[in-house]
Amino acid sequence: MRTILVTGAAGFIGSNFVRMLMKRGERVKLIAFDKLTYAGNLENLRDIENEPNYNFIRGDITDASFVDQFFAEQLFDGVIHLAAESHVDRSIVSPMDFITTNIIGTVNLLNAARSIWLNSDPKITNRDSVRFYQISTDEVFGSLDQGGYFTEKTGYDPRSPYSASKASADHLVRAYGHTYKLPIIVSHCSNNYGPFQFPEKLIPLAINNIKNNKPIPVYSRGENVRDWIYVEDHARAIDTVFHQAKDGDHYNIGGFNEWKNIDLIHLLCKIMDEKLGRKEGTSAQLITFVKDRPGHDMRYAIDSTKISRDLGWKPSLTFEEGLSKTVDWYLENEEWLKHVTSGAYQHYYEEQYHRR
Ligand code: NAD
Ligand code: TYD
Repeated sequence: MRTILVTGAAGFIGSNFVRMLMKRGERVKLIAFDKLTYAGNLENLRDIENEPNYNFIRGDITDASFVDQFFAEQLFDGVIHLAAESHVDRSIVSPMDFITTNIIGTVNLLNAARSIWLNSDPKITNRDSVRFYQISTDEVFGSLDQGGYFTEKTGYDPRSPYSASKASADHLVRAYGHTYKLPIIVSHCSNNYGPFQFPEKLIPLAINNIKNNKPIPVYSRGENVRDWIYVEDHARAIDTVFHQAKDGDHYNIGGFNEWKNIDLIHLLCKIMDEKLGRKEGTSAQLITFVKDRPGHDMRYAIDSTKISRDLGWKPSLTFEEGLSKTVDWYLENEEWLKHVTSGAYQHYYEEQYHRR
């Protein structure tokens, strides 16, 4: 049985990805790894934590000696690397957290993989079956005007501390692939939404505020455009790329689903009015235009033709379906929302793991 490491497994995309593998009975030994920062929450993995082939390890990818020892003990066949500081607004306030986790943390993983995979006895590590998969973002490509899309050939042009730290990490992943022949793959995905997303990002923040009759902060006039993908569709894409892509390849993942922020918020308000039994137009009164984010990228849009053509992946839901499912999930999981907004979830790890 292969042993797969998923870093950032307790975060939004990581937990959705791990859940998908466990629910379908994937025959792998899965090591879910996470530091459990404010964004990582073991409640996100509660329903699969007793699966026999699942293990959780708490650790920090910025701790090189820990990472080296961990790799030497576990002998992973594959690494799917999602651990990161992921919120642009936080990166503007505290760039160093992004530089240490996203850049140094990624290099620590690369060094450990290189040392174990490329130097150990071929009987222990089958070099043909190992791979390091870097989960990156479309934000490394910068910002688009009205026309055009990011393709796999678009050059890097990151413009926020977050995207610059992800771009640096990607360059190092590619450099280790080129220089040391470490088997690597990279994918760049557009904005994800769906269950278990921390309510600092636009969609869960707006859902939470609408529910609680609080202002919905829209930066500037809401003219910025994002390309949205339902998180389970991204999880399927990660699975597809991990299993089918050729070493050294890159894929863009997106839903051809561009929305101006203000149009998205109006659609969300309409869905929320219906679900909460409010008169149409009630929630939209909460829209509040606020000061813009410094350096706010205008438009992201992914051309995902390559992954559809080569690997047969495509998104499964329309935006209206995905948003409706997402709103249902947040309305049904009030406890989760209360815990993550109060920080109470951070005690869950202590209760569940230090007791054992
Ligand atoms: P998230 O913030 O929800 O989760 C990140 C996880 O990483 C958290 O569980 C956190 O505890 C963990 N982590 C942070 N620092 C760590 C450290 N030093 N050591 C170990 N674990 C650490 O983020 P997400 O939205 O799930 O994003 C996951 C990955 O996907 C990131 O690499 C992000 O750049 C990328 N991505 C996200 C999106 C998106 O729209 N959310 C889009 C494209 C790519
Ligand atoms: P966000 O969810 O932070 O993702 P990203 O910055 O990685 O694209 O933001 C999505 C869009 O929504 C982005 O254009 C910024 C905007 N935004 C708001 O207008 N108000 C908010 O409160 C937040 C968090 C984001």
